Amino acid sequence: MSRRIIPVADVSAIPSVAGEPLAARGMLADTLSRPLRDLRISVTDRCNFRCVYCMPRAVFGNDYPFLPHSALLTFEEIERLARVFVAHGVDKIRLTGGEPLLRKNIEWLIERLAALTTPDGRPLDLTLTTNGSLLARKARALKEAGLTRVTVSLDALDDALFKRMNDADFAPSAVLDGIAAAQAAGLAPIKVNMVVKRGTNDGEILPMARHFKGSGAVLRFIEYMDVGTSNGWNMTEVLPSADVVARIAEHFPLVPLEAHTPSETAQRWGYADGSGEIGVISSVTRAFCGTCTRARLSTEGKLYLCLFASGGHDLRALVRGGASDEEIGTAIGRIWQARDDRYSQLRGNAAPAPANQARVEMSYIGG
Ligand code: GTP
Ligand code: 5AD
Ligand code: SF4
Ligand code: SF4
Repeated sequence: MSRRIIPVADVSAIPSVAGEPLAARGMLADTLSRPLRDLRISVTDRCNFRCVYCMPRAVFGNDYPFLPHSALLTFEEIERLARVFVAHGVDKIRLTGGEPLLRKNIEWLIERLAALTTPDGRPLDLTLTTNGSLLARKARALKEAGLTRVTVSLDALDDALFKRMNDADFAPSAVLDGIAAAQAAGLAPIKVNMVVKRGTNDGEILPMARHFKGSGAVLRFIEYMDVGTSNGWNMTEVLPSADVVARIAEHFPLVPLEAHTPSETAQRWGYADGSGEIGVISSVTRAFCGTCTRARLSTEGKLYLCLFASGGHDLRALVRGGASDEEIGTAIGRIWQARDDRYSQLRGNAAPAPANQARVEMSYIGG
């Protein structure tokens, strides 16, 4: 039987740089009055895990056509684009993948990004989402390069279950060692992301809560999303965040906490005994598009305005075509001003878009 190869969405357009220049004043707003504040940069589409909900092995097998090196934005190109985004108001940059720590010399890029400041002179919040497998080795160098903090994905503490979920034989102990190394290096506050699939790892909710309670790390439970088209998403596998909170509160009383910022993805809950907090990210049952300030730059330099977008804007074509910083800034500004994406909110409880409709994969665009 031939395997299905699902290409990432490639409905992209080269942005226009014609017309009046648009000055970067850090005050861009889209059609729903949402400012541009966060930039998530995917530095590789490869990963050493094959999480069943993200890169199922049946699709992302040995012959999967990952991007050739020449297609990737170089670190110099990423730095240049990041500088333009920061002038437009971005004050938080997250490096993602695939697995970002697989990209060679990532510390070099981090050093360059850490040197950027906002127009009013503030340092950026510079963070990275990782599966943790290489963190024990790299945490200190990442901190020294100027990374502020890290977010580590971990879906289960049970050895066999975690190995089944990552489908690459990685033990949870390796990830826990990575988290410990990140804590020792001062990459704080550390967040731990657990994607909850009903019937697969919901039995791990309490053990995970118990493990991280009082550890200083913030555990966050993510509703399994219909992102991409290859994971065979089904609503029956979504456990609503309200149920997660109820299950934990039965054992450890919780109190709601205020959001740090309006655009935060997670709702925060504190342990009533003061031993830390958890978060729930409810993009299926309680969409947060209304405050979404996130832009995404794919590994090959396409700008996506939504995690569920079917097409990106080809900034690499501008960069490699000789556009000036001002022209690139104008293009980014116009693209953001025309943005009206709010996929999760529109979908509500309806079925996801059909799988034959192009949608970008999480491993290509990053979480
Ligand atoms: P911090 O809380 O500042 O560390 O960052 P964050 O909330 O952006 O968190 P993170 O990058 O860890 O995102 C956690 C998860 O939330 C991701 O893995 C996605 O599953 C989901 N998520 C993040 N951003 C979006 C978004 O814009 N839309 C949707 N639908 N889900 C998102
Ligand atoms: N639903 C929810 N979260 C997902 N992630 C990847 N795929 C999905 C999905 N279908 C999250 C993982 C990881 C981050 C990179 O993206 O938890 O933390
Ligand atoms: Fe890799 Fe993260 Fe996707 Fe898992 S969720 S396959 S670790 S990119
Ligand atoms: Fe933002 Fe799109 Fe996610 Fe809504 S679905 S929060 S618009 S990325």
